[in-house]
Amino acid sequence: MGAYFATHVLFLLWFFSATFTSSFFKANSNFTCNERDKQALLTLKRGLTDPLNRLSSWSDQEDCCRWDRVRCDNKTGRVTELDLSHTRSSGEISSSLLELEFLNYFDLRWNNFNCTTIPSFLGSMGSLRHLGLNSANFCGVIPHQLGKLSSLLYLNLGGNSDLYADNLRWMSNLSSIQYLDLSFANLHKEVDWLQIISKFPSLLKLYLADCQLDSLNPSLGFVNFTSLQVLYLPNNHFNHEIPNWFSNISTSLFVLDLRNCSLKGEIPHGILNFQKLKSLLLNSNLLTGKIPESLGRVKHLINLDLRFNSLSGPIPSSIGNLSYLGDLFLYDNQLNGTIPKSLALLSNLKALLVGYNLLTGTVDEGHFTKLSKLKYLDMSFTSLFFNVNSNWVPPFQLEYAWMSSCKIGPNFPTWLQTQRSLKILEMFQTGISDKAPSWLWNWTSSIEIIDLSSNRIEGDVSGIVLNSTILNLRSNHFKGRMPQLSTKVKVLNIANNSIYGSISTFLCQQRNVKNKLEILDASNNLLSGELSHCWKYWPSLIRLNFGSNSISGRIPYSMSSLVALQSLHLQNNSIIGEIPSSLKICSNLRLIDIGDNHLSGIIPLWIGDMTNLLILRLRSNRFKGHIPLQICQISSLRVLDLANNSLSGTIPKCLKNISAMAIREPNIRDISFNSLRYMYDSGSYIENLKLVPKGNELEYEKNLAFVKIIDLSSNNLSGSILVEISILSELHFLNLSRNHLMGNIPEKIGSMKELESIDLSQNHLSGKIPPSLSNLTFLSHLDLSYNNFTGKIPSSTQLQSFDALSYIGNPQLCGDPLPKSCTIEEEYLNKSPIGKKEDEYKSSSFYIGMGVGFTTSFCAICGTLFFNRTYRHAYFRFADYIKDWIYVTTVLKMNWLLKKVRGCHLSKRKTSLSS
Ligand SMILES: *[C@@H]1O[C@H](CO)[C@@H](O)[C@H](O)[C@H]1NC(C)=O
Ligand SMILES: *[C@@H]1O[C@H](CO)[C@@H](O)[C@H](O)[C@H]1NC(C)=O
Ligand SMILES: *[C@@H]1O[C@H](CO)[C@@H](O)[C@H](O)[C@H]1NC(C)=O
Ligand SMILES: *[C@@H]1O[C@H](CO)[C@@H](O)[C@H](O)[C@H]1NC(C)=O
Ligand SMILES: *[C@@H]1O[C@H](CO)[C@@H](O)[C@H](O)[C@H]1NC(C)=O
Ligand SMILES: *[C@@H]1O[C@H](CO)[C@@H](O)[C@H](O)[C@H]1NC(C)=O
Ligand SMILES: *[C@@H]1O[C@H](CO)[C@@H](O)[C@H](O)[C@H]1NC(C)=O
Repeated sequence: MGAYFATHVLFLLWFFSATFTSSFFKANSNFTCNERDKQALLTLKRGLTDPLNRLSSWSDQEDCCRWDRVRCDNKTGRVTELDLSHTRSSGEISSSLLELEFLNYFDLRWNNFNCTTIPSFLGSMGSLRHLGLNSANFCGVIPHQLGKLSSLLYLNLGGNSDLYADNLRWMSNLSSIQYLDLSFANLHKEVDWLQIISKFPSLLKLYLADCQLDSLNPSLGFVNFTSLQVLYLPNNHFNHEIPNWFSNISTSLFVLDLRNCSLKGEIPHGILNFQKLKSLLLNSNLLTGKIPESLGRVKHLINLDLRFNSLSGPIPSSIGNLSYLGDLFLYDNQLNGTIPKSLALLSNLKALLVGYNLLTGTVDEGHFTKLSKLKYLDMSFTSLFFNVNSNWVPPFQLEYAWMSSCKIGPNFPTWLQTQRSLKILEMFQTGISDKAPSWLWNWTSSIEIIDLSSNRIEGDVSGIVLNSTILNLRSNHFKGRMPQLSTKVKVLNIANNSIYGSISTFLCQQRNVKNKLEILDASNNLLSGELSHCWKYWPSLIRLNFGSNSISGRIPYSMSSLVALQSLHLQNNSIIGEIPSSLKICSNLRLIDIGDNHLSGIIPLWIGDMTNLLILRLRSNRFKGHIPLQICQISSLRVLDLANNSLSGTIPKCLKNISAMAIREPNIRDISFNSLRYMYDSGSYIENLKLVPKGNELEYEKNLAFVKIIDLSSNNLSGSILVEISILSELHFLNLSRNHLMGNIPEKIGSMKELESIDLSQNHLSGKIPPSLSNLTFLSHLDLSYNNFTGKIPSSTQLQSFDALSYIGNPQLCGDPLPKSCTIEEEYLNKSPIGKKEDEYKSSSFYIGMGVGFTTSFCAICGTLFFNRTYRHAYFRFADYIKDWIYVTTVLKMNWLLKKVRGCHLSKRKTSLSS
């Protein structure tokens, strides 16, 4: 979907760049037009739908040289130019056009010919010098007849996405062509495209974006583009190095665009011979090696885009010679070293994007001396230390500052106060450990998006009025009462601070304003009081998190006015009473977490009507009664955590109907789960949830997407574990421990292939341990302790690799890893050989990885995101300015995550070494 989206964005960009000023010309001649031409045009008009009535001036009564969009030769009265662009016409292009013998300019761009083919008779219009058929929704094969147009200077067929060429040999007669655009046509079949096109002696501009070309290497000889100025080839799949002929081509080149072409190897020095080059766009490739020092020779460079490659080494200091440079996009490479001082000379620099690199050292006032035009600054996720004097007045006015996860603190950066045009400020995890300056809140009020999370900024926010659209103040040392919100605020994340006071005072004070708040996360604070009855003042809320505070009282009936609500977190408070039946009105709920409270009563039967629900966490309350069968109607449910209540009765057989746990979604980027994402301009809000997948509590965020769990532990459930549970083959974690379950483990448990953890401890289960358990290749946590299992523990590398504690407390169980060895009889009874399932091991998918256990599977996911370039590129092209996904995970997790990723990388290497 990322790639799809990106293609469309590119398409649109291309579209606008290729749509040059439309010339709606009107005849100024008073020479009467040729009658044949006039009749031909009238026939043409009859075939077209012309929904916007653009051809209304075309009437039989008027001289056709005076019609709109028609131009005649002022001596002969013959029609020479015809501009039918932007009429939104469809219909038939009449061959009466052939009557216009002297037509040299014909433009049909921006129409909708409904996926018909390009009429081949156009190839007989020998006078044509300009033929524009771009973005007109033509489909099918490009007619070879167009090759007869030997006077053509301009041919544009771009932006017709279902056009293709079986070959391009027919083009070789287009000997005058100067401008050629076949973007989005599929030219995959023509292996000699380069040979053919490079023979055009006058070609100035070549646009072949998204043409499914797969080689830049000429099949024979070398390439001789003598006068080329624009070479625009983004989004092809070259998959090889930048060829040498680039060094020899035209010195008149001023745009070279090879974005997203799977190019490998180093940037050839020759590419820097282009004295006139203004745009060098090589981003989103697989380029390695250093940025050549000779870069400084490309004196006229304005745009340099090398983002999303694997370039290493330093930023060359010769960059200071590029005095016209406006955009310097280097982010997401492996550049190391310091930022060269010569940067200070780039007085035209508008965008300095160097984030996501291994850059080190200090950035100070000196680097910015002449950068008065700087508007975009990205140095996030580097080891740069932004060290400037507290009284520094920068020469620039930034609009976008991405400075997260580099070093700025410990002092609050006072220079920010001089920045009056900021739209986005991202400064999370920058080591600021300081008091919020007194001007801060007033100053932020004009910033659209501000992220100061994961610092240690202190300050009392009581009484301040926040006025940004999106505010992330999470994980700081803010204290005081909840701030007030202007009607602009859509997202407030103030979790993990020390905000105290009555929650109802906050909720009820916004009575007279039209709130637009969509996300409120005030979890992990010291808020108290009851949830009040002021919900009707918050009609836009879609995410609400008051978890881990000291809220008391009941869940008010009036919460049902939150009809748009998708997630409700009230966990870990002191809430009492029952779940109000009014909550069923909130049918958009996807996540309910009211665990760790003092709630009581039964699990309401209407829960089965919450068919959007993905996550239900009622853990650690006082719920009693049965697990309602209605729960099985929630086919999208992927987290069912009812642990630690007083539920009784049996485990419903119908759990097998929860298809999200039984059927694999076709796509890792699970669509249903994505409904829990909230994306905004430069990031997203991520839900979090505490679960106990393997005996220890873990906090899930981004990785929540990959979790499917049933936890019914510590209740009073009785009866047996029914074989139906084995249908839930997508389940990762199953915890039924600490109940009163009896009977055997179903033999078919081996078909729950995704299981990583099974905890059945402290029940009254009996019988033998089913050998199929050793089919579970991902199983990394098993607890069968304190039951009445008997016989030999089946032998398999899997089951013996667990600690004896996994089996302890079953006096009649024997064999490795328990110290008690089996009698001959026991040995015999369990004799059913289990082979190691190598095949399954190998076929383990991208999705859950190559090893055992959750960490590994999480590894696999993030590892893949980090190291599978294609995937990453697709994602990044989608995200682009949105930044990568680490950025959106809580920063506290960052180091842990990176370690994990590195660990994964190492273990992958180890695996490949050992195999
Ligand atoms: C035709 O145009 C010429 C010059 O443009 C002008 O002198 C003449 O009067 C015009 N004739 C008519 C009939 O409009
Ligand atoms: C006719 O066109 C020629 C060039 O095409 C131009 O030089 C001349 O001025 C035009 N005459 C009139 C009367 O518009
Ligand atoms: C375009 O094609 C579709 C089917 O291919 C047809 O239903 C529709 O009427 C056509 N539109 C026009 C304007 O010809
Ligand atoms: C390249 O093209 C130019 C102009 O067409 C021509 O003069 C020159 O000889 C060509 N070079 C080679 C090596 O073919
Ligand atoms: C940059 O990385 C290369 C290896 O990729 C290393 O040899 C070099 O010493 C590093 N330079 C700095 C300044 O860290
Ligand atoms: C906040 O800024 C505005 C101008 O933007 C100014 O008029 C006002 O006095 C400031 N308030 C405080 C408390 O500094
Ligand atoms: C809030 O922001 C808007 C612009 O988005 C601005 O016009 C308004 O003055 C701001 N309000 C305050 C109190 O700063």
